[in-house]
Amino acid sequence: MNTPQSMRCIEIKNPGGPEVLVETSRPVPTIGDNQVLIKVAAAGVNRPDVFQRLGQYPAPEGASDLPGLEVSGVITSVGRNVDTWKIGDQVCSLLTGGGYAEYAAADAVACMPMPAGLNLVDAAALPETVFTVWYNLFDRCRLMPGESLLVHGGASGIGTTAIQMAKAHGCEVIVTAGSKEKCNACLEIGADLAINYREQDFVSIIRDRAEKGVDVILDMVGGDYIAKNLKCLRQDGRLAFIAFLQGSMSEVDFMPLMLKRLTVTGSTLRTRPTSVKATIARSVIETVWPWVENGQFRPKIERILPLAEASEAHQTMENSGHIGKILLAPQEK
Ligand SMILES: NC(=O)c1ccc[n+]([C@@H]2O[C@H](COP(=O)([O-])OP(=O)(O)OC[C@H]3O[C@@H](n4cnc5c(N)ncnc54)[C@H](OP(=O)(O)O)[C@@H]3O)[C@@H](O)[C@H]2O)c1
Repeated sequence: MNTPQSMRCIEIKNPGGPEVLVETSRPVPTIGDNQVLIKVAAAGVNRPDVFQRLGQYPAPEGASDLPGLEVSGVITSVGRNVDTWKIGDQVCSLLTGGGYAEYAAADAVACMPMPAGLNLVDAAALPETVFTVWYNLFDRCRLMPGESLLVHGGASGIGTTAIQMAKAHGCEVIVTAGSKEKCNACLEIGADLAINYREQDFVSIIRDRAEKGVDVILDMVGGDYIAKNLKCLRQDGRLAFIAFLQGSMSEVDFMPLMLKRLTVTGSTLRTRPTSVKATIARSVIETVWPWVENGQFRPKIERILPLAEASEAHQTMENSGHIGKILLAPQEK
């Protein structure tokens, strides 16, 4: 496959608002011995990209400074040590950066084959949220079939993924979201109960249920939700933090931890070593891909925008009006 010398991409000119995302031209990335080069069909937009643009979430050492943590596309070259992929293979992949571009370098072990029945562009919506949900809920929190799960931010990219993965796993899923429209969207994709947190008190609703709490909580809000979450957990409950949109500082009564034998955990995906991402990728291919292939899990996609409209994509995300994922497609004009 002929790969050009240069490519269109989106760079962060300076830390700031969505307008600092500027289209420019750069050399096509060179790949390492354990990497592949992907001609990008689409790149997923994730909230961590917004934090990177604001200057609050710098790219880890060795990663591209371009935003973009996941892509789908076609492999156009493979590194010397790579024997698992060949030129022409269609994949989606987790990246440490560099997704907002026509070409992206990816670690071969972070690439995954296309699940049957999903189109190449839509597959860009999967890696970042699926890896995050898998690692936090299934690995760290050991979510079991038959257990109940509370997901805050149910209509987010992460939330819409968590709902469907937990339902496919045989769990009861309760979500919180900030509008009636978002609550309805969560119910449509499988949530058993959606609580509009702007109008209802999720703590009393969850504690008033017959089961008197949930087994596992996935939280991206933090702030006063930290203490509220501890109140919502049942005996032996588990709580995973993946972000603190309302802040990570709070006054908390830890007594429930002892009395209910609770576990509090959390993680950030981007900085985890390649070996950890490889392990997650294998689990995802084995367990989650069949759910995609049998229709139990479809990425919920709000908008697909041309790459040049990255600023618009970030503005939409920051307004929090979207439901599910936003993608950027270099081939769209
Ligand atoms: N730790 C990790 O490895 C990891 C990986 C990926 C993402 N994340 C984090 O997970 C979160 C979701 O990511 P995403 O890409 O799915 O984002 P997203 O689609 O933009 O969703 C964020 C959601 O959070 C809610 N929200 C926004 N600002 C809020 C605020 N100040 N207080 C409370 N709720 C707020 C909004 O829902 P409502 O309108 O319903 O309030 C929005 O739907 C982000 O915070 C991201 O940084 C963590």
